[in-house]
Amino acid sequence: MSEPASDLRLRKRASLQQAGAGETQLNVVQELIHRKQEERPVNGHAVLLNGLSKSFGDRRVLSELDLEIPAGQLLAIVGRSGCGKSTLLRLIAGLDRPTSGKISVAGTDVESLQSNVRLLFQDARLLPWHRVLGNVGIARTKGWRETAAAALADVGLADRANDWPAVLSGGQAQRVALARALVSRPSVLLLDEPFGALDALTRMEMHRLLECIWREHGFTTVLITHDVAEAVALADRVIVLRDGGIALDMPIDLPRPRREAADTSAVALQARILDEV
Ligand SMILES: Nc1ncnc2c1ncn2[C@@H]1O[C@H](COP(=O)(O)OP(=O)(O)OP(=O)(O)O)[C@@H](O)[C@H]1O
Ligand SMILES: [Mg+2]
Repeated sequence: MSEPASDLRLRKRASLQQAGAGETQLNVVQELIHRKQEERPVNGHAVLLNGLSKSFGDRRVLSELDLEIPAGQLLAIVGRSGCGKSTLLRLIAGLDRPTSGKISVAGTDVESLQSNVRLLFQDARLLPWHRVLGNVGIARTKGWRETAAAALADVGLADRANDWPAVLSGGQAQRVALARALVSRPSVLLLDEPFGALDALTRMEMHRLLECIWREHGFTTVLITHDVAEAVALADRVIVLRDGGIALDMPIDLPRPRREAADTSAVALQARILDEV
């Protein structure tokens, strides 16, 4: 049985009080961050790829791919342009069908679009004829205004509900798109280079926001990115896609929350991934 939260908090406080200055204090803080990571909820579903292949005409893009993504994991996929990253994501989302092999989410075969799986692209794709709130609550189910407003608050845009998409910055538009993806409480979130078009500072803000929301909600996340530093900053695990298969499958066991390129271990992991891209 797990320890009650109040006992855990007391024990954490006691261990902090016992800790001395300097390195010991640092170790305790790092341990707390690590525990926080272990405590996060897992509301996501596992994704399983089995012998997955995809060809377009004569061109084979994915070749007998096997991959198990555990529930709640944040997986980053990197690889050169044209290696099949978006193709793979579209297959998981049920937007396209594999040539052979199988995909399952939560043990159910994916044969078409899944209601518990949401996809976010590089461009926000907001509807210009709806205000921000209307874009987030696009399904218009019962009580949509309240749930859309809560999702907007999650991404820090509660005060922009009545704005038109045209007046938003690129980062804000992408946060609205994130809120729209989250409003139905998906169990799997697929992100296809969602921050690629943003400036470096906004990108870092979005990293923190995504990490924070993911830790709070616990959905399974697959993040496609060109940016190896982004992959290491965010992911539990990084996969390099090359020649239709997995060239590298590497756990990123760094404490959270992470700071961009903060330490030498992050830089060493980035170098290892770059070797395989
Ligand atoms: N609908 C399609 N019809 C024909 N070929 C396609 C189709 N979709 C993708 N391809 C081809 O499959 C390959 C992989 O494309 P994909 O978009 O998955 O690459 P990617 O890794 O996402 O690249 P990038 O990093 O540039 O976004 C490319 O050669 C592309 O031309
Ligand atoms: Mg792509």
